[in-house]
Amino acid sequence: MKLGYDEAGHGPVLLMVHGFPIDRRIWAEQISGLSDIRRVVAVDLRGRGKSPTSEAGWTIDTHADDLAETVQSLGVDQVDLAGISMGGYIAFAFWRRYPQMVRTLILVSTRANEDPPEYKTGREMTAERARQYGTAALAGSMLPNLLDESASQEVKDRVVGIFESVPGATSAADSLAMKDRADSTGDLPSITVPALIIEGQGDHLLPEGSGKALAEPIPGAKLVRIPAAGHFAPIENPDAVNSAIRGFLDG
Ligand code: MLT
Repeated sequence: MKLGYDEAGHGPVLLMVHGFPIDRRIWAEQISGLSDIRRVVAVDLRGRGKSPTSEAGWTIDTHADDLAETVQSLGVDQVDLAGISMGGYIAFAFWRRYPQMVRTLILVSTRANEDPPEYKTGREMTAERARQYGTAALAGSMLPNLLDESASQEVKDRVVGIFESVPGATSAADSLAMKDRADSTGDLPSITVPALIIEGQGDHLLPEGSGKALAEPIPGAKLVRIPAAGHFAPIENPDAVNSAIRGFLDG
């Protein structure tokens, strides 16, 4: 499936992959802020925004395959690949399946391990709630863990607005896809391309020390911790995220 996207700029492609249960707009400030050094392409994964939908029942690998088809349609052989959270899970799958297409990896607010067994029931409950009541019904319980306490009302409103626009069936399918995702921990030492890890200092969704745990096994990986930001650092502190990505890509 060829995905829809927003884009700006020219030159090598920086492909940006959003997380759960959101869409490409989490990267709005990266599209505008990095378009002088890259052709920034922020995709909507299947089932939301500018992308077509399909029968529910997809996997993280399905999303990775959609990205590969989209990269081909952009007319390039390689991309700098950035993924936030679930987008990071997809980036690991993409690395396993299409390593030749990856120039560099930027992993934001994510982790390599699979869901522990006690998480899996929660994923099923989340899927059921999204299916019955819509994605917006997830906002109340998720938001306090997603955003730093310093997040402005404007940022909160933008995030809730994105939740509201994602179909419940899409979020249900993504929740189940995350439940069944592969463990990527063993792949980390095989990441031979330059890698940047970004984490918000106030991320309460991931366990403490997740950024370090991800960076250490990846040869030469660089870790940047973003102040005044939680799990959604790109929208909470875009200037700091942009300067981390710019420094990495310039280097
Ligand atoms: C995300 O931000 O994509 C999700 O919170 C990831 C997850 O639930 O594991």
